[in-house]
Amino acid sequence: MKTPHIETTAVRTQIERSQYQEHSVPIYLTSSYVFEDAEDMRASFSEEKERNIYSRFSNPNTSEFVEKIAKMEGAETGFAFATGMSAVFSTLAALLNSGDHIISSRSVFGSTHALFTKYFPKWNISHSYFNVTEVDKIESLITPQTKILFAESPTNPGVDILDLEKLGEIAKKHKLILIIDNCFATPYLQNPIKFGADLVIHSATKLIDGQGRVLGGVTVGNSELIREIYLFSRNTGPALSPFNAWILSKSLETLPVRLDRHCENALKVAEFLEADPNTENVKYPFLKSHPQYEIAKKQMKQGGNIVSFEIKGGIEAGRKFIDAIQLCSRSANLGDTRSIVTHPASTTHSKLSEEERLETGISPGLVRVSVGLEHVDDIIGDLKQALNS
Ligand SMILES: Cc1ncc(COP(=O)(O)O)c(C=O)c1O
Repeated sequence: MKTPHIETTAVRTQIERSQYQEHSVPIYLTSSYVFEDAEDMRASFSEEKERNIYSRFSNPNTSEFVEKIAKMEGAETGFAFATGMSAVFSTLAALLNSGDHIISSRSVFGSTHALFTKYFPKWNISHSYFNVTEVDKIESLITPQTKILFAESPTNPGVDILDLEKLGEIAKKHKLILIIDNCFATPYLQNPIKFGADLVIHSATKLIDGQGRVLGGVTVGNSELIREIYLFSRNTGPALSPFNAWILSKSLETLPVRLDRHCENALKVAEFLEADPNTENVKYPFLKSHPQYEIAKKQMKQGGNIVSFEIKGGIEAGRKFIDAIQLCSRSANLGDTRSIVTHPASTTHSKLSEEERLETGISPGLVRVSVGLEHVDDIIGDLKQALNS
């Protein structure tokens, strides 16, 4: 059979059936596995045999989830984590040594920023930031200690786009490990490995679950790097639970269908917001006015489900808007069937200083909308009445 389409991979990647010939994969809620005899045990622990030993190392449900994401991303293999942040932390911690240096886009998720600025310095791991519009400056930041080039695209919450092809070229030229947090795009909309990424990370908590139920994370990519990450994680214990892996693998079956509607709704919401006199700086990757529209078109299938904008009138107007919302949820999550409005300055990025927020593109009045799967007229109706309140 020729390589199936991504929709088919999402539905048909499945672990071997048990003796019960189930159609839908069961949940393997087991912490450990049994062995035939002492020799079987020895060979399994020495990795002469590839098999499940203990669910901190591997489990049939997590293996299915990882295999599916890896295939959808065009990656060799991967490892699944309890959360997106444990994927980010374990991936970096497994690959970095004391004295190493990371170069990263300044616009990264708040907790990733906290890793770079508060925790990695404890282990003598330093970082340099570049602005999303200054990819050309990356080479001037490289030192002999630089090991990793890290970026998110689209960024959270500013919805900026980084040119993955350019990042891939720089990483290759300088032998850096390129790691892309692909959370906002999902494997359906963007495959960073095609552009030269060595590793791709997802918070599966977002659009991969898509229904606001479970936490999860995953890193896929080059098998030698994943081996390092696996060995680190097997010992330190950030593994995804089998139950959550089962949920997430099932969710992937509908990811393409859900994303098509999320993106269709989000584009309509972005067009509405752009035309509304109470807003400014509306950003959505597939709006022609987006500063990196051409790059977004080159590397993404569709624009995703996140729209950001500013309300004229600053922080007070922002607060009033959030209070007036009736249908959408006031929540810090994103990528749910239910539309969500967030005020990053007072929630997800509140730990940053005002100056750091502005550097990351988060103004006091910035609002992030995670566009859900309600009827788009109802979502727009809610935003409209809140903007006019
Ligand atoms: C871009 C990005 N990376 C990582 C994370 C962390 O994921 P989790 O909340 O699953 O730990 C998030 C969470 O919002 C995110 O938006």
